[in-house]
Amino acid sequence: MDLLHELVYGRGYCLVKADEVSFLDGIKELLLDISLSDGNVADVKSVDELREKITTLPESDINSLNMKLSAYPDFSAMLVNAFSSSVRELAGGEFFLQRRSHVMFNTSDLRHTRAMSHFDGMSGISPFTFTIWIPAHDLHDNSGIWVLDQDASMQLVERESEKQCVMGKDLLGMDALEPLRMDFGTGVFFNPFVMHGAYPHDGALARIGVSTRFQSRSKPLFIRNSEFYYPYDLTA
Ligand SMILES: [Fe+2]
Repeated sequence: MDLLHELVYGRGYCLVKADEVSFLDGIKELLLDISLSDGNVADVKSVDELREKITTLPESDINSLNMKLSAYPDFSAMLVNAFSSSVRELAGGEFFLQRRSHVMFNTSDLRHTRAMSHFDGMSGISPFTFTIWIPAHDLHDNSGIWVLDQDASMQLVERESEKQCVMGKDLLGMDALEPLRMDFGTGVFFNPFVMHGAYPHDGALARIGVSTRFQSRSKPLFIRNSEFYYPYDLTA
């Protein structure tokens, strides 16, 4: 399959198996180690136990843990090395990489769950950016992200434009899309024009997702520049 073609001219997103799952195992271990060092999470021996524990924490502790995990500097590099052949196909071996990955929880508590419908281009990243998103565990329930193909996504935006409406009910009210199901070791790549988000769920375990963004060094950076990216040379 031609990943670049699918992301640019096709659906705009694609599920991809990691070349080196060991990098993702490393992310999983670090998620656990960093969480244990946080002080609010004790006696947790696996990512699934951590997912269960997160659902019991008060809001401020969830935020504190989330900030601590998101501050860890190496998750982005581990992600691109896990998917090195796909990243090379999309941006070469030398590219700009998101300085800090995003670590996201989707708990079953409505205070913390869903990511609102959006496309990443809304946040000022360049049109030449690609996102990698992984679950830190098998994802077989409905707590994961949904992704809408880019044609449907842009039609939605155009309809809003015709109605002179921004973030209206068509866009925010999307609630019938199937969240992606995937095994640990698989990631979803998408471009900045596909709508995505997450729904509230009532599972017993919080979902943990990790994402990063990268783009070719030869393409325009737009708003996101050195604070967001750093130059990275792929080693794998
Ligand atoms: Fe996003």
